Amino acid sequence: MDNRSIGVFDSGLGGLTVVKELSLLLPKENIIYFGDTGRVPYGTRSRETILKYARQDIDLLASMDVKMIIAACGTVSAVMGDSLSKGMDRPCTGVLLPAAQAAAALSATGRIGVIGTPATVRSGAYGKAIRSIRPEAKVIGRDCPLFVPLVENGYIQPDNQITHLVAEQYLSTFANEDIDTLILGCTHYPLIRDIIAAHVGSDVTLIDPGYETAKYAANLLTRSNMLREEGEGSEKYYVSDNPEGFSTVAAQFLRREVRSDVVKIDPENPAALKGTR
Ligand code: DGL
Repeated sequence: MDNRSIGVFDSGLGGLTVVKELSLLLPKENIIYFGDTGRVPYGTRSRETILKYARQDIDLLASMDVKMIIAACGTVSAVMGDSLSKGMDRPCTGVLLPAAQAAAALSATGRIGVIGTPATVRSGAYGKAIRSIRPEAKVIGRDCPLFVPLVENGYIQPDNQITHLVAEQYLSTFANEDIDTLILGCTHYPLIRDIIAAHVGSDVTLIDPGYETAKYAANLLTRSNMLREEGEGSEKYYVSDNPEGFSTVAAQFLRREVRSDVVKIDPENPAALKGTR
């Protein structure tokens, strides 16, 4: 048993789709979330910048003595790859492997689509992970850079015409590819799942990285005998930009109320954390 919190981070709000699934699956766990709202988006930045930000985010959560770190960001998971968990003194996972494993297992034809940020698609990491499980798989990637700002700005209603228009253009990539599975390779995308489904067709299975990662984390903690076994879990939120308004938008991602205060911190200056915990 380990009563310490699970640390979860993302560039902004998208990682809350992982928190939502985690708190449903493991209601006794305490969760600390860091959303790097002051530096979102990551997905349009260079590899070097993404690595720098990700390392700062990881150090920040490690300094809070969490028992496990989840990079709830497709971009960080794709760009860091195996180095995410290498040399770490506690379990650490991204969203890529859980989603790739689910797609490889669920696809009947092995024709799998992946949508994500430009950095995620450019990395080719999903294709590599899927082909290491199913070498014959054909993986078709498409970057969707406007999806993150649309989601962060609340353009998520299933009938939102602007998001439909953007989705129609991006997802036309798959029109003649005959995919049977599509990975939502960015943790923001489950928020517009219905819109995406409308443009790829109802016969395509959508893989939600939040759900798959929560299951993966639960297994990891169970196998390591690190689950919290008593009481109701609590949560704590940190952001790097103005916390005002965070709770309102976050509630849309969580599909419930935010159950704590939201505290502003600077990931480049962890010393400033003192007194905020
Ligand atoms: N939620 C992050 C991801 O999964 C992304 C967005 C971003 O910062 O560009 O990729």
